Amino acid sequence: MVVSWKLKGNEIAMTEAEVASWQRNAGKRLLECVGVTAGKVVLDFGCGEGNYTKIVARIVTLTGMVYALDKNQEVLDKLIRSAREKGLDNVVRLDTSGNMPLPLRDVSVDVVLLYDVLHLIGWSGGESGETVRRGTTSDRRAVMKELFRISRPAGVVSIYCPHLVTHTDVESEQDIATELKDEGFDLRDDFYAELIHDGSLVRGHIVNFIKRARMNRRASC
Ligand SMILES: C[S@@+](CC[C@H](N)C(=O)[O-])C[C@H]1O[C@@H](n2cnc3c(N)ncnc32)[C@H](O)[C@@H]1O
Repeated sequence: MVVSWKLKGNEIAMTEAEVASWQRNAGKRLLECVGVTAGKVVLDFGCGEGNYTKIVARIVTLTGMVYALDKNQEVLDKLIRSAREKGLDNVVRLDTSGNMPLPLRDVSVDVVLLYDVLHLIGWSGGESGETVRRGTTSDRRAVMKELFRISRPAGVVSIYCPHLVTHTDVESEQDIATELKDEGFDLRDDFYAELIHDGSLVRGHIVNFIKRARMNRRASC
């Protein structure tokens, strides 16, 4: 698996119109490649102000829905205001403390987006943003177990995880893939795509995992 990267030094600060254009074009294509289609139920875990949430809401239409989950109430306020202004009534707000369990039913979600958030699970920082505590495998596995519980059969978990080295105890995406595998998700595919990261256009590595079907063991044959 290739380690994620971005165009260091070539990042472009984006205007609102450019963000909207990215959402209609590259962002939409990216989410369609992940498997977001009309009627799907999607969880945008750590959605922030909803760059991805709003694209998903348009793709899944009113026959589907997108849960916008975040522990920052202010970003959720902003996202919901903006979604309603745009007529996106299928965005459902989920406030969280960050602790598990997730407020979602078993086997109810088709696609989970974990974009630019895995490194923050279990992480805490000081006043100037320095790392005080790194996220550990047990922090992430508690979340992954919940993702397995809420995912439908063949459900997808799509990750984009920059900052692993600075914020967590792992060295690469490969370690995250191993954790996901242990929690019941197999690697499906990966690709590079044009993403918005910290307000700039970057080229990022998307890795998609699929929920493994449990083996049905017969008592005898
Ligand atoms: C860097 S932003 C990424 C936002 C969005 N996913 C994107 O890529 O544009 C990370 C977001 O995750 C949220 N977050 C961090 N830890 C979280 C947790 N344990 N549960 C839910 N949200 C979390 C933060 O509040 C923040 O809004």
